[in-house]
Amino acid sequence: MKIYKFDEIDSTNKFLREKSDITEGDLAIAKVQTLGRGRRGNKWVSTEGAALFSFVLKHDIEIPEEEYMKLSLLIGYSLLYSLKKIENLDYKFKWTNDLYLDEKKISGILVEKIKDNYIVGIGLNINNLNLEEAKNIAISLREKTGKIYDLDKVIVTVVEDFYNNFQEFKKGKWKEILEKINEVNYLYGKRINIVTFDKEESGIAGDILEDGMLEVFVGNEIKKYNIGSIHISKK
Ligand code: BTN
Repeated sequence: MKIYKFDEIDSTNKFLREKSDITEGDLAIAKVQTLGRGRRGNKWVSTEGAALFSFVLKHDIEIPEEEYMKLSLLIGYSLLYSLKKIENLDYKFKWTNDLYLDEKKISGILVEKIKDNYIVGIGLNINNLNLEEAKNIAISLREKTGKIYDLDKVIVTVVEDFYNNFQEFKKGKWKEILEKINEVNYLYGKRINIVTFDKEESGIAGDILEDGMLEVFVGNEIKKYNIGSIHISKK
C-alpha cells in the first residue's frame, strides 16, 4: 500500500487509473485538482481545503459481480459514518451515494472500475469555503461549525472506516447496513424527476431496496430504478 500526495494534480482518480502498478489500499491525495471529475462527466470543483482523494479496492473474486452493485451505496454509508465521528451532525444519504447537510451537498463519490480494480474517488467539503454562486447547493464542515479540521486525519479515518465496513459487508451484514442507510434516506417521501434514456417521469421516492435499487411511486405503480440508468432532480 502506497500513499501519493500532490499539491496539485489534474485528478486523483485519473492518476490511479493510469498507474500500471497499483495495489489494494494505494491512496492518492491532492490539495488541489485542476480537472476534478464528477459522475456523468461533470466537473468537480476542487479547491484547497477540501479533502480530495482516491484509493484502490481490488475486486475480490469470492464476491459475485452483482454484489458490487451495492458498493456505491456502501461507500456513501461508510463516509456518513466517518463524518458522524468527526462531527456528529444530521447528515443525509442521497441515493446513490451523495451526502447532504442542511439540504446542501457536502460530499461526492466517483467509483470507476479498471480491470480488476475499483478506484474510489471522494471529494469532501471540509475546510474549503464555497464560492458565492455555490453557496446554495454546497456546504463544508467549516462553514457549518466554524472549525478547521486536520485533512490527513479526516482522510485516514474515512479510508480505515471504509475497509472495516467492507469487511462487515463481506461477512453478510448488508441488511443491517441497508437499514441504517434507509434511516437517513434524503429522497424518501420527496417528489423527484426520473430521467431515463427515452422518457421523463415524476414520482415519490420510497426506500432503497435490498438490491440497491430505489423504489419510486409513479401514479398507481411502484417502480424500481437502477443505479446509473437514471438522473434524478428534485421537483
Ligand atoms: C460527484 O458527486 O459527481 C462525484 C465527485 C467525486 C470527486 C472526487 S475528488 C477526488 C476524486 N478525483 C476526481 O477527479 N474525482 C473524485
